[in-house]
Amino acid sequence: MSQASLCTRPSATGLPATNASTTDTNTTAGLVGPWPSGLHPDILSTIGRTPLLRLGKLLPRSGWALYGKLEAANPGGSMKDRPALAMVRQAQAEGLLGPQTTLVESSSGNLAIGLAQVCRALGLRLRVVVDPKITPTNLKILRAYGAEIDMVAHPDPETGEYLAARRRRVADLVATLPGALNLDQYANPGNPRSHRNGTVAEILDTLPEPPDWLVISVSTCGSLKGARLAVTDRGLATRILAVDAAGSVLFGTAGPRLLPGHGAGTVPAHFARDLADEAALVTDADCVAGCRALVQREAVLAGASCGGIVAALARLQGRWPSGTRVAAVLPDRGERYLDTVYDDAWCERHFGAVPVLEENPPAQA
Ligand SMILES: Cc1ncc(COP(=O)(O)O)c(C=O)c1O
Repeated sequence: MSQASLCTRPSATGLPATNASTTDTNTTAGLVGPWPSGLHPDILSTIGRTPLLRLGKLLPRSGWALYGKLEAANPGGSMKDRPALAMVRQAQAEGLLGPQTTLVESSSGNLAIGLAQVCRALGLRLRVVVDPKITPTNLKILRAYGAEIDMVAHPDPETGEYLAARRRRVADLVATLPGALNLDQYANPGNPRSHRNGTVAEILDTLPEPPDWLVISVSTCGSLKGARLAVTDRGLATRILAVDAAGSVLFGTAGPRLLPGHGAGTVPAHFARDLADEAALVTDADCVAGCRALVQREAVLAGASCGGIVAALARLQGRWPSGTRVAAVLPDRGERYLDTVYDDAWCERHFGAVPVLEENPPAQA
């Protein structure tokens, strides 16, 4: 491959690549590129350019050409590495980051981990506001990266929700902590841009023909908005299926949910209903069933929202005709769900049994 063609890779942030591998000029560690293929100047340059898998064994009776974008391959374990890096790079480009800066973020999941990784790599301080519902594993991961943990002790007295209490704590810190900066993934344009120019652009660049459907699970709606923008950028007829959690206010109504990642309790600024052509709601049990089918049939150990996507697709067999090209973004890896999704006793406690994937029979030819 020529040096020139290597230079055309999209950057994970949507900003000009400042330290990506191969041929980009790098100065972050006092080193100067170009880089030979496969050699990376630092961990951040390994974010993005994840594999696109052909999922030939997952729903074979569908007759679809089904692909999964393996965001688990990002170094922090999820697609949220991309918005984390994009938002920090943007803040850097705007001159908002100085020696006194402390990034303050309310998240106990993948974005917090992605941000902790970026902050460690760039030597930035990060204070993560979490609540007691954070999983022990995520707490340990955040501590391992060196993030400071700010645990809110009680839910918001008015709403009874931890999210509201965490948001208030972030606002307090931004007002009182010298150098505090909140990047706010729920409204920051770097979030959708990282998927528009990264995740989804990579899918569209890799497939020989554009997919008929892109399948995206939703929470902040950064990836959904990024997908819509990428499809519009290229003038494609590709349609978008949003997969949301039952109990989320985005495409359904508020209700109890067990599994983290997808779904939302409040509507983020990135959301608009018409970003998706269709939406599917999936339960916690659907996510478990889909995850277990994905690992059994494809040996992909993935997170809960990936299982939700699989369950939604299993039901669409017969509705989308044989030959349909389908590309799904698979947001994260499964290890963080070993005590829930992949734990039989947990499943029996919550669902009475280990859920099994429900599949619509494909339409007769
Ligand atoms: C596992 C997982 N799935 C899906 C989503 C939804 O992605 P977005 O925030 O882009 O809507 C997230 C967001 O954090 C996530 O962590």
